[in-house]
Amino acid sequence: MNNATKKYNIVTFGCQMNKADSERMAGILETMGFAASEDPNEADLVLYNTCTIRDNAEQKVYSYLGRQAKRKHQQPDLTLVVAGCVAQQEGEQLLRRVPELDLVMGPQHANRLQDLLQQVYDGNQVVATEPIHIVEDITKPRRDSSVTAWVNIIYGCNERCSYCVVPNVRGTEQSRTPEAIKAEMEELGRQEYKEITLLGQNIDAYGRDLPGSTPEGRHKHTLTDLLYYVHDVSGVERLRFATSHPRYFTERLIRACSELPKVCEHFHIPFQSGDNEILKAMKRGYTHEKYRRIIDTIRRYMPDAAISADAIVGFPGETEAQFENTLKLVEDIGFDLINTAAYSPRPGTPAALWDNQISEEIKSDRLQRLNHLVAATAAARSDRYLNRVEEVLVEAQNTKDPSQVMGRTRGNRLTFFPGKIEKLEGKTVRVKITESRAFSITGEMVV
Ligand code: SAH
Ligand code: SF4
Ligand code: F3S
Repeated sequence: MNNATKKYNIVTFGCQMNKADSERMAGILETMGFAASEDPNEADLVLYNTCTIRDNAEQKVYSYLGRQAKRKHQQPDLTLVVAGCVAQQEGEQLLRRVPELDLVMGPQHANRLQDLLQQVYDGNQVVATEPIHIVEDITKPRRDSSVTAWVNIIYGCNERCSYCVVPNVRGTEQSRTPEAIKAEMEELGRQEYKEITLLGQNIDAYGRDLPGSTPEGRHKHTLTDLLYYVHDVSGVERLRFATSHPRYFTERLIRACSELPKVCEHFHIPFQSGDNEILKAMKRGYTHEKYRRIIDTIRRYMPDAAISADAIVGFPGETEAQFENTLKLVEDIGFDLINTAAYSPRPGTPAALWDNQISEEIKSDRLQRLNHLVAATAAARSDRYLNRVEEVLVEAQNTKDPSQVMGRTRGNRLTFFPGKIEKLEGKTVRVKITESRAFSITGEMVV
């Protein structure tokens, strides 16, 4: 079949893993001869890469999907694909709910898009949600940025946090080999990418499923070893990694980050709650004291390190006093950024079945109070940049003010300053910071 003039549109919901998967699927479609289309209503193939972390994320997909399903009645050769975490969670049921669908594919199947589409073009309605060993992708992803890129190092998650769907939808941990990771990074270096973020849902678990663990129980392959192994890839100037889990975060890793010049002083370590009882009910496997010790150690090695996190309010049974322990942790640590969320009961997770659920009113009240505090601490953290000269890697034009460009500090602060993107894209420049807001700063380039 000739796809030369066909267009595709991908809509991505959810986390960085989904964005990375979308880039690989876009790459596969382009190798097949499809061209990107900005407008889903013009596309011959529409792919929703979905997220089910909270109920509102899932519901969004259904409303988008409804519109395209209708369009399919006028344009029967439209190909409709649902990929990602809702696809994995709902499987066959999605076909019953939206019979217009051609393909439902879980995240482990992202790299198999071409095969699966071939089955669709052969006349089948396809559901691919069985657990598989993730195959290395041999096509080139179509990356959204030409400066920063994501590289998966471990897929899946073996934790069982009592609120979380990720292990159900992403499957068990599968680490890529250090060689495959390095080869991808070298290719990115050749293509002049300047910053790479290594990705995993629980990145500290990297390597524990690879052969070669020692009899003493130490793993031969760890995130720390990987950082040393890939650090010198040429062309790449900055390295980041996410997401860290407080349970497995080691001092050895912190030391490596302080020793390795390309690793940026930014750590994303979700704490979820500042209360030990709630942490236990969440099955997180650490206490708030342990979390505080990790941050202290990071700051001992790297005093200016930026710390970001995720937190949940209104977990089943959370009392006002327990919620206040979260506020206290936030106040004490001084976070640069926190992604906050009200607890959302998810199908197939233990906490969803408990009878001590918190009312929506209380959840939204707590979320508001937490967000208020987060904005205040983030603003205080932004202020520390004032009058400093920061290294900024320029990524793009400022969409709100074309006379400015946008980049990030090593601490991941969004930074704007006057300049031309044609000249500055991909360059690391020195910027004197003159203005600060909660989540971004502004300055002027200095030479
Ligand atoms: N692997 C990461 C987080 C993955 S999910 C970790 O272990 O921290 C991203 C974030 O979504 C979580 O950190 C959590 O804050 C939030 N989240 C996950 N499940 C949720 C739920 N059921 N309700 C509300 N927020 C949730
Ligand atoms: Fe979910 Fe916990 Fe795994 Fe993070 S570590 S993805 S919160 S189960
Ligand atoms: Fe959402 Fe799946 Fe990521 S549920 S947060 S897209 S792992």
